[in-house]
Amino acid sequence: VAFALDLRPHPAPGGPLAWARVPWDSDALGLEVFELRCEGEADAVAGALPSLLADLDARGAHLAVARVPIGATALARVLGAAGFSAVEASFELSLPLRRRASAPPVRFPAGLLLRDATPADEDAVAAIAREAFANDRYHLEPAVDPERASDRFEGWVRRAFADGDAVLVLVDDRDRTIGFFHVRPDAGGDVDLSLAAVAAQFRQAGVGPLLYAAVLDLLRERGHRTAHTRIAAQNLDVLNVYAHLGFAFTRSLICLHRPSGR
Ligand SMILES: CC(C)(COP(=O)(O)OP(=O)(O)OC[C@H]1O[C@@H](n2cnc3c(N)ncnc32)[C@H](O)[C@@H]1OP(=O)(O)O)[C@@H](O)C(=O)NCCC(=O)NCCS
Repeated sequence: VAFALDLRPHPAPGGPLAWARVPWDSDALGLEVFELRCEGEADAVAGALPSLLADLDARGAHLAVARVPIGATALARVLGAAGFSAVEASFELSLPLRRRASAPPVRFPAGLLLRDATPADEDAVAAIAREAFANDRYHLEPAVDPERASDRFEGWVRRAFADGDAVLVLVDDRDRTIGFFHVRPDAGGDVDLSLAAVAAQFRQAGVGPLLYAAVLDLLRERGHRTAHTRIAAQNLDVLNVYAHLGFAFTRSLICLHRPSGR
């Protein structure tokens, strides 16, 4: 499965931490990226964290990433004491797709068409993905080269094409790519709204809301039950689109980074 992490407990077996190398981010950023999940209570995490960070430090330059619910004060304190800093707040959002059943059909301006991407669309989609994101946690992280942070988004969609994931493109009557949407169905019939963007020259014209609504209708027609996603709190443009579409904001998270050597 694309984007599945090989998480290991620390200490093994059954420890309060789980960790994995994040292969796609490591490859794109040229820096080993490790995701840490805090699965136990704060005290247990505090006990297990030093030996895990020592193991990671022994591997050389890297970036450790952890996400905790916004209310998890004790856990945030433990991570902060170990050298982690908060870099991004985000929301988890979800919508049962049956709610779209009563929405009026989406009407794009004449000439615009939403269709499944073909391999011939990959370069245009990759170019949009590369320029669309500038304020995410990797572009804002001083330990990461911003060009590499852009490589990550380009790599994200190129991997989607290589893995045969669902990518939808919005094109005009000259087959110019206006926007794209990458989605990842999961086993339970739900679907992750993984990455989407409108090309810079076509933004702020109402196309985004139509693209998002049309993709949700298509996902409902294709039998998916619930759409979910995670969005950085600073990305107000897309948060407003999701709010207009009736998404519930189900959880708030803080993402923390610890560059090696801190
Ligand atoms: C997020 C993004 C796709 C939005 O697309 P867009 O075409 O620029 O969207 P627009 O600005 O035209 O539309 C949003 C506007 O429509 C409004 N809107 C949304 N749904 C609406 C609806 N159903 N009816 C009326 N207005 C609506 C919003 O409030 C907003 O209005 P405002 O800008 O006047 O406050 C685009 O900004 C983008 O590509 N951003 C970079 C990539 C990114 O962040 N992607 C999302 C994370 S995966």
